[in-house]
Amino acid sequence: MKVLVIGNGGREHALAWKIAQSPRADRVFVAPGNAGTAIDAENVDIPATDVARLLKFVHDNQVDLTVVGPETPLCEGIVDIFTKEGHRAFGPSKAAAQLEGSKVFCKKVLRQADVPTAEYRVFRDAESAALYLNSQREDLPVVVKADGLAAGKGVIVCSNRNEALEAVRRIAIDKEFGAAGKQLVIEERLEGEEASVLAITDGRTLLVLPPAQDHKRAFDGDTGPNTGGMGAYSPTPLLDAASLNKIEEQILVPTVHAMKRSRWPMRGVLYAGIMMTPQGPKVLEYNVRFGDPECQPILMRLKSDLLTILEATVDGRLDEIEPPQWDTRPSVCIVMASEGYPGDYERGRPIRGLDDAAKLPDVKVFHAGTATMGDQVITDGGRVLGVTALGTTIAAAKLQAYKAVKCIRWEGAWCRKDISDKAQGKGV
Ligand code: AMP
Ligand code: GLY
Repeated sequence: MKVLVIGNGGREHALAWKIAQSPRADRVFVAPGNAGTAIDAENVDIPATDVARLLKFVHDNQVDLTVVGPETPLCEGIVDIFTKEGHRAFGPSKAAAQLEGSKVFCKKVLRQADVPTAEYRVFRDAESAALYLNSQREDLPVVVKADGLAAGKGVIVCSNRNEALEAVRRIAIDKEFGAAGKQLVIEERLEGEEASVLAITDGRTLLVLPPAQDHKRAFDGDTGPNTGGMGAYSPTPLLDAASLNKIEEQILVPTVHAMKRSRWPMRGVLYAGIMMTPQGPKVLEYNVRFGDPECQPILMRLKSDLLTILEATVDGRLDEIEPPQWDTRPSVCIVMASEGYPGDYERGRPIRGLDDAAKLPDVKVFHAGTATMGDQVITDGGRVLGVTALGTTIAAAKLQAYKAVKCIRWEGAWCRKDISDKAQGKGV
């Protein structure tokens, strides 16, 4: 079989690496890929958003399955276009991708399905949002969200009314997030620990993957600005079997049913951002793709053939395959970033020590923002590498991952030093 993975991050490297292990995968292409996918697969020089050229590539090369990594092409309807042309593609339709592409849509589905989530109101302009905020008797903390895709930046967590009014201004008057801010959601601010629960679904059957925890803030102790994710580990002891069951029964299953009833069946990844509140788990958001970096530690533990799972999903027969086997050992992924990230950073710095890191047992270095120049690997993004390791405990996996991090250097390289510490003292 020939498989195409669309995207160029750590998630896509992990997907391509795992798919390439399948005995049925003859060739694995990644468009556009990075220096890591060039080693584990074959790069194709087409951007992830150039649907017309991607379609032509799939047609000309008789690709049997396309796996879409990032949300933007999904929300633009790449899966509908491919399917219409007779090509199999893993991911949701444009309609179902609204679960991630529109926070208003997501909230409506959650309400219809009676899924626990923060109380919310929708507004179309700054005046009505401000009127609402000013009419509240209590100055309760809220979260203000731009409706559409805003590269993870359209969510502003506020402590009081003034901050909320300022957030409304940024979204609805200054249009900081462009068209994404045409509508806004103001919701109750929830408190608790966050976890990522990813499931794969064909619209009827649900396969819940081991839960993970991301580290979104830039600096140690969850301080500093938000990032795409500075590291992740799986499984997380924050969710025991009972909470995971509850999340499946009260959150994921009703969502999949609600989507099916609405005639927008959800196919692909249903990724719930969960807050463990004192009242139980609540949904913060849905994504319709694998998390990055969560995908890396999760796939590191997958012992079964990923291609079988992806194909069964696309073909709507997820109920027919054997449950996947997981390595019992936990895994930890540390993101190594460029100097300046998540702000401005330079590209093109030569990376050394990748071979030494690769020699360590139970380690895989997933590339994210890298490129090849001659025979050198250079930095080409903010999040550069996802250094991932397995260990008998989370602590051992962490130690091994940082051992690998120590082998790798480039000018200005940095990472958080406390990835997975949140898990310590929680029965691991
Ligand atoms: P989202 O893109 O909706 O996941 O939001 C990004 C981040 O904002 C989440 O990971 C949370 O840390 C935070 N967040 C979103 N909604 C809420 C909420 N209702 N209460 C508290 N924090 C939130
Ligand atoms: N790790 C967060 C995300 O993929 O959205």
